[in-house]
Amino acid sequence: MTHDFRTAAVIGAGTIGLSWTTLFAAHGFTVHVTDPRPDLAEAVDAALADFAPHLAARGLDVEGLADRVHLAADVTEAVRDADVVQENGPERVEFKKDLFATLVREAPAHALLLSSSSAIPSTDFTTDLAREDAGRILIGHPFNPPHLIPLVEVVPGEHTTEEAVQAAVDFYTLLGRTPVVERKEIPGFVGNRLQNALSREAVYLVEQGVVTPEDLDKVMTNSLGIRWSTVGPFLGSHLGGGPGGYRHMAEHIGASMKRMWAGLGTPSQTAEEQERLIEAVEKAYGSSTYSELAETRDRRQLAVLAALDSADTSDTSHKEEN
Ligand SMILES: NC(=O)c1ccc[n+]([C@@H]2O[C@H](COP(=O)([O-])OP(=O)(O)OC[C@H]3O[C@@H](n4cnc5c(N)ncnc54)[C@H](O)[C@@H]3O)[C@@H](O)[C@H]2O)c1
Repeated sequence: MTHDFRTAAVIGAGTIGLSWTTLFAAHGFTVHVTDPRPDLAEAVDAALADFAPHLAARGLDVEGLADRVHLAADVTEAVRDADVVQENGPERVEFKKDLFATLVREAPAHALLLSSSSAIPSTDFTTDLAREDAGRILIGHPFNPPHLIPLVEVVPGEHTTEEAVQAAVDFYTLLGRTPVVERKEIPGFVGNRLQNALSREAVYLVEQGVVTPEDLDKVMTNSLGIRWSTVGPFLGSHLGGGPGGYRHMAEHIGASMKRMWAGLGTPSQTAEEQERLIEAVEKAYGSSTYSELAETRDRRQLAVLAALDSADTSDTSHKEEN
C-alpha cells in the first residue's frame, strides 16, 4: 500500500462529502467526487465557495482549488486513479456492503478505503469480502464539518491490517487532522457515544420542563463547551481534584458522582414528546436560516481554533492534543 497520497475519491457529496472534498483539494489533492444527486455540480461549486475562506483562515493556500476537483459520473470513474477513497454515503449497512464490494473491485489495489460512518463498525459491512480486501478498509469518522473540526476516529475492523491503520493515521495527519485510533469496535465509536450520553440527558431535562432547549444550549456553551475545548473530562477532573488530582476527586466526590449516575434520566420521546421538542427547538432557532446558523457556527469555531493555536504557540509547558 503506497503512502504517497495524491489522488482522492469522495463517494457521496452530502454534508460530510462536500466538506472533505474542499479539505482534500486545499491540501493539493486531485479529488474525484461522485454522487447521484442531480445538483452535484452546483453543490460542489457552492461548497468550494463557502468553505475556501475557512481554510484560507486556517493558513491553507486555496488558489486554484476548483481546478483540482473533478466530477465523476459514477463510483468506478471516481476511484479509477485513487490513492485513497473516503466514503460518505447513506448510513445503511446494506448500502455500505454493496459500495465496498464495488470499491475493492474498482479501486487500485494500493488504495486505502475509508468510511465516514458515524456508528456502523466496518466489520459489519466487510464480512462477505475476501480477507485481503477487508484488510484495507476501515473507519475514518470525522465530526461535522470535517474541514474545521480536527478529530478523526480511526477504527479498524477485525481484518484491517496494521499497515492500513498507520496509512490512515498518516493520511489524516497530512490533512492537519487529529486522528485517534480506537482499538475495539463499538457502535457509535467514542465521540458519538459521548455525544449521545449527553443528548439523552439534555432531551430528558427539556422533557421534564427543567430548561428550554435554548437555555440548555446556553448552559453548555458557557461552561462545558469552553472547558472541553481546552481540557477533556479526565484532565478536567484531575484539575478539579486540586493538587490531589484525580485520586482526590474520585475518593472525595466519587460516591456522590455514582449516586448522580444512577439518577440520570431516560427521556420518553413518545411521538407527542418528540413533536413538542421539535417545536421548541424550531421556536428557539427557526427564525434564522440554515445558512445563517451554519455561518455563525463556522465563524465562532474558526475563532476557537485560532485562539487555541495562539495559546498553544505561547505554551511550551503542557500541550493537550484536542
Ligand atoms: N452529518 C454528520 O454530522 C456526520 C458526521 C460524521 C459522519 N457522518 C457520516 O457520513 C456519512 C454521510 O453523512 P451525511 O450527513 O453527509 O449524509 P447526506 O445525506 O448529507 O449525504 C449522503 C449523500 O450520499 C449520496 N448517495 C446516495 N447514494 C449514493 C451512491 N450510490 N453513490 C454515491 N453517493 C450516494 C446522497 O445523494 C447524498 O448526497 C454517513 O455515513 C454518516 O453517518 C455524518
